[in-house]
Amino acid sequence: MIRVTFLGNDGKVATAPENSNLLRVSLREKGGIPFKCGGGLCGTCKCRIEQGIENTDAVKAKERKHLTEAELAEGRRLACQTFLLGDVSVSW
Ligand code: FES
Repeated sequence: MIRVTFLGNDGKVATAPENSNLLRVSLREKGGIPFKCGGGLCGTCKCRIEQGIENTDAVKAKERKHLTEAELAEGRRLACQTFLLGDVSVSW
């Protein structure tokens, strides 16, 4: 199991199986990451991986439509397009 810390929700901590989708963990555990489409289209779930960016999977083409290279470099992702390979802390 991996740990997800929702910094935008008073540091609430949830656990989930490896390879879980970040937005799905947030929905299941009431983590609070905003969302609308759930499918990489609206950009509402834009968030920042403050710790553990190395524990996320590769950036998707859909994410590049909403995030600049500079944003990606500072750990921003779309939660609905991000899968977790290890512990992360996320803000939004
Ligand atoms: S919820 Fe719309 S892009 Fe993630």
